[in-house]
Amino acid sequence: MGGSANLNIMMKAARKAGRSLVKDFREVENLQVSMKGAGDFVSRADLAAEAILKEELLGARPTYGWLAEEEGEIEGQDPTRRWIVDPLDGTTNFLHGLPHWAVSIALEHKGQIVSGVIYDPAKDELFFAEKGEGAFMNDSRLRVSGRGSMIESIFATGVPFGGRSDLPETLQDLARLMPTCAGVRRFGSAALDMAYVSAGRYEGFWERRLHAWDMAAGIIIARESGALIEPLTPGGDILNDGEVICANEAIFQKFSKLIRD
Ligand code: IPD
Ligand code: CA
Ligand code: CA
Repeated sequence: MGGSANLNIMMKAARKAGRSLVKDFREVENLQVSMKGAGDFVSRADLAAEAILKEELLGARPTYGWLAEEEGEIEGQDPTRRWIVDPLDGTTNFLHGLPHWAVSIALEHKGQIVSGVIYDPAKDELFFAEKGEGAFMNDSRLRVSGRGSMIESIFATGVPFGGRSDLPETLQDLARLMPTCAGVRRFGSAALDMAYVSAGRYEGFWERRLHAWDMAAGIIIARESGALIEPLTPGGDILNDGEVICANEAIFQKFSKLIRD
């Protein structure tokens, strides 16, 4: 479980950004908050964490490309490798003093995500995976849950906020799914939602209207933990479409049929 040099760079960067966010989380009331869009807040903490990640990740690998939520995209000298970063996933939770948010870092190589780190500083849970090496949380190997019965399963999603137009689709999903399962959760961090499927904490997750940085690290962590993860529309591309569905293998068919039909 030593991990590659790149994975170690990612973990160090995630912990450093996490420390900065924890300090700001404690002073959350004093943060300057600006509106970037309905329900989508950007804080000073967010920008500071992204600056730390940029310094650590591009400092160590200056030729790689860069895609991050706040400052956008930088083309690298090496066109095959790119960091995909969300410095703070769960901003709304953060600003409300809810301790459920994470730093998310992925490395893409030739269009495939090859490693991912999701760090939840409030719980000191570091989720990570590399292609072909399995997925881990701190010192433990991650495995999806083995539950195959809908009525025993818990699912997570993100619900539209601030007048988003995808409310009818979400309500339809919920109307179909809720009577069949043990519960639906909306925890407010897509990155942690995917990490939690990997950890077997819930059986499945789906969401629309996400961005590449919300999902990139979660994709490899989910896959390496044994989850099935697909674009919500079959044949699509998760990162470009921003729509994802993932679940343990035992429940995937039943769950995805309900959501996709
Ligand atoms: C958000 C979270 C949330 C999801 C939103 C995302 P942010 O990311 O992942 O769970 O439902 O769509 O935008 O804005 O906190 O980085
Ligand atoms: Ca996000
Ligand atoms: Ca964010």
